[in-house]
Amino acid sequence: MSESPFPEGFLWGGATAANQIEGAYNEGGRGFATSDFSVLFKKPKEGEPENHLPHNCATAQQLGERRAHPERFNMPKRRGIDFYHRYKEQLGMLGEMGFKVFRMSISWSRIFPNGDDPVPNEEGLAFYDAVFDECHRLGMEPLVTLCHFDTPLHLAEEYGGFASRHTVDAFERYAETCFRRYKGKVKYWLTFNEINNVLTNPYTCSGLILPDDGSGNPYAGKWQLKYQISHNQFVASAKAVIKCHEIDPGAKIGNMTCRLENYAETSRPEDQLQVLFEDHFNWFYSDIQAKGEYPYYIRSWFKKNGIEIEMEPGDEEILKKGTVDFLSISYYMTYIMRYKGLENPMPSGSLVTHLKNRYLEMSAWGWPIDPIGFRITLNHIYDRYHLPIFIAENGLGQRDERDSKGRVADDYRIDYLARHIEQLGKAIEDGVDVFGYASWGPLDEVSSGTSEMVKRYGFVYVDADDYGNGTYDCSRKKSFYWYKKVIASNGVDLANDIVDYPA
Ligand code: BG6
Repeated sequence: MSESPFPEGFLWGGATAANQIEGAYNEGGRGFATSDFSVLFKKPKEGEPENHLPHNCATAQQLGERRAHPERFNMPKRRGIDFYHRYKEQLGMLGEMGFKVFRMSISWSRIFPNGDDPVPNEEGLAFYDAVFDECHRLGMEPLVTLCHFDTPLHLAEEYGGFASRHTVDAFERYAETCFRRYKGKVKYWLTFNEINNVLTNPYTCSGLILPDDGSGNPYAGKWQLKYQISHNQFVASAKAVIKCHEIDPGAKIGNMTCRLENYAETSRPEDQLQVLFEDHFNWFYSDIQAKGEYPYYIRSWFKKNGIEIEMEPGDEEILKKGTVDFLSISYYMTYIMRYKGLENPMPSGSLVTHLKNRYLEMSAWGWPIDPIGFRITLNHIYDRYHLPIFIAENGLGQRDERDSKGRVADDYRIDYLARHIEQLGKAIEDGVDVFGYASWGPLDEVSSGTSEMVKRYGFVYVDADDYGNGTYDCSRKKSFYWYKKVIASNGVDLANDIVDYPA
């Protein structure tokens, strides 16, 4: 076998989020989170108006209805995959594959039901103790996101989530509580999941609830508000980094952004200029979290657009002191940019670009598949920051069919992952310092964007449908055996040669 490009001790594993796996939304003293109100995506029927609000969002009116009449709505994140009750069985499956790392998140409202209660909920704290102990028993390092798209509802309703500094203070206390309690058990932390999504989805990322203004998407535009929220989350994140270093000097703490690698549509310099504009809106997030200050390009853009960030005394010092130890990203696709003719650019405000790259295939959900883009993006990140990188998410959402023996021959998933892992290896050979790879959704889980169960990413099939029917039992897909081999060979054996396998 050839030599592995992956360093010894490379953290192979998978990634999840509390709001997509735990279920038990009203058990163990947990309070409501914003994610408990996401409804199942429904394609508009012919003639019906398209809904421009992301499906994991809710307006104030929708929230009121869903709260008053939950029986009328399908809210799958309340069910997850029942990890809360089945974590031993489910983690056991990952242990069997040889996972070295399990990325998960803590549900803030399990620890502080309202987000800002005077005393933490012991039952919630004990639940995560048990999960971390189980991870260690199975030889997996837990890598924990403090806030993955589930702001406590109380903070969202009463304070507008991170639009208020009250939520920043509450987050700092929550983070401190976690660092103290789990010192020695958790070595790797992340602050906010995909913090750059504040620009596209401040309900999901930041707990901002807005009334329905009749526009179809009341969250569109509103740059002043979104950049203020971003600032508040930068401060919250930096405060958490500082606390983490004080409380547990042995731990490492990183940020997490959704990596948006952009290509120019043509070699027209104007298209390349559009790439530059769009890149600035994205790099801005990791620039602040890694370098600790507002970059020149955003200061000038703020000035041109009359955006004034309200800072509290000491904020700039906090940002400087609270820079991250490592960077983490989700990587799913790349984007095409065409010049928009605007000298004063605006962020695109949408994640999925409508311009198609004719050289790339698309997933069933319309996401372009670009393994080489993975190598390119990793080089760009490393070149910019020279900090270690953890791959917090990468994977293929697909419908899976089980055969009569309950098996899933998910060759498409194996193919997707093999091609990405190959490019990851090349990036490491290029000299990029990557210390771990967590494929998204190793156990099928509820989709973040659409709340579907049928959009599956897993090596492990979870018997549940979009409506909560099914046994919720786990079985092994073909990719389960393939990934096990990948881990055992430290990324060398990527061949899809699994012939016979039990479910
Ligand atoms: C990332 C999120 O944006 O993409 C995850 O951090 C999410 O929570 C993943 O699940 C895949 O998106 P989706 O919508 O297919 O679940």
